[in-house]
Amino acid sequence: MKYFTFFLILLLAGSCAGPAGEADSQVLKPSFDPDSLTEFAAQQYAKTLETLPDTNRIPRNAHPDGTWNLVKKGSWVSGFYPGVLWHLYALTGDEQWKTAGEAALLKLDSVQFFDYDHDIGFRIFNSFGSALRFTKDSSYVPVITDAGRTLKTRYRPVTGVIRSWDWHDQWQYPVIIDNMMNLELLFWAAKHTGDEEMRKIAVSHAEHTMEHHFRDDYSTYHVLDYDTLSGAVREKVTFQGYADSSMWARGQAWAIYGFTLTARETGREDFLKQAMGAADIFLTKLPEDGVPYWDFDAPGIPNEPKDASAAAIAASALLELSQLVEGSDDQIRYRNAAVALLNALATPEYLARLPQQGILLHSTGHKPGNSEIDEHIIYADYYFLEALLRLKDLQKQTE
Ligand code: GLY
Repeated sequence: MKYFTFFLILLLAGSCAGPAGEADSQVLKPSFDPDSLTEFAAQQYAKTLETLPDTNRIPRNAHPDGTWNLVKKGSWVSGFYPGVLWHLYALTGDEQWKTAGEAALLKLDSVQFFDYDHDIGFRIFNSFGSALRFTKDSSYVPVITDAGRTLKTRYRPVTGVIRSWDWHDQWQYPVIIDNMMNLELLFWAAKHTGDEEMRKIAVSHAEHTMEHHFRDDYSTYHVLDYDTLSGAVREKVTFQGYADSSMWARGQAWAIYGFTLTARETGREDFLKQAMGAADIFLTKLPEDGVPYWDFDAPGIPNEPKDASAAAIAASALLELSQLVEGSDDQIRYRNAAVALLNALATPEYLARLPQQGILLHSTGHKPGNSEIDEHIIYADYYFLEALLRLKDLQKQTE
């Protein structure tokens, strides 16, 4: 009952709380009140702080009974829990989240040197990077620059790209579309170390991905295997998607986000066009309720699990994309698409309620691997909060 009262307040507040001062009636107003949604998210994670066992393990996904599945710091998701806490600090200004964020960073001791996969950006930039962004405390800088140096070691000039994984025997040099997300760390580390090589690697990775990872309609392949001698692409396949030829929802969201950040960092039109292409096909193919199924081509649609994480990642990316594109039509189009995704997520269908932990239900981690299907997964919360913060900033700018 309490939950539904809360939800009513969220809706009522949202319906009369559009971006103040925005004369343009074409701008879609959120159906929720961002402040009430922030309060709800903080309540959910306050419960996590209260109930989390005293351990170095890190929340990854939540069981329906309200307990978290905890993982080691080497997991690709280990940066998201600290990142969620730091985003709550940025959204609320409440010191308890800063204290909790600092404590969570201690769980990532030495992770900046873990070099066995490409996920160094996810682990370090979303955790320490968020801490630095929201506190400006320069003591976080060395960890992040060390992480950039580690990521750099995974690049081979012959392929022109950063290797994603080391443990799949069927591939020589696998590179997944998700890897675009790690470029943010490299661009940042290049600026802070003066190491121009890092920037060149990030640009080379994006150029090769743009050339090989996309189909003509701007949908993406999940995995490309490069030949370590010639640098040629050996095959284009999937690991987490439905089929080699399908559009895996989260992979496509990573592509939108990755090319948007690369366009921001380079100012290049071709990267911006790629981000727009990736976004347009994602948006065109969304189902009626606005939240993608785990794969846009999954054979059992509409009886397939959703992936709320893909919606949250795309929403956050689209808010940034709306600020990079020229022309008010595209600016409004991408901003409205982001708000529509958030509106779809900020509903009783997708919001968790205690004893469920976290914020967003209905994400799918790895359907073909029969893992994390239709669950609450922490990276959905991270990008949802990032999107909420970006939306609030955008609203402030246009007030
Ligand atoms: N980067 C792994 C995933 O998106 O599942």
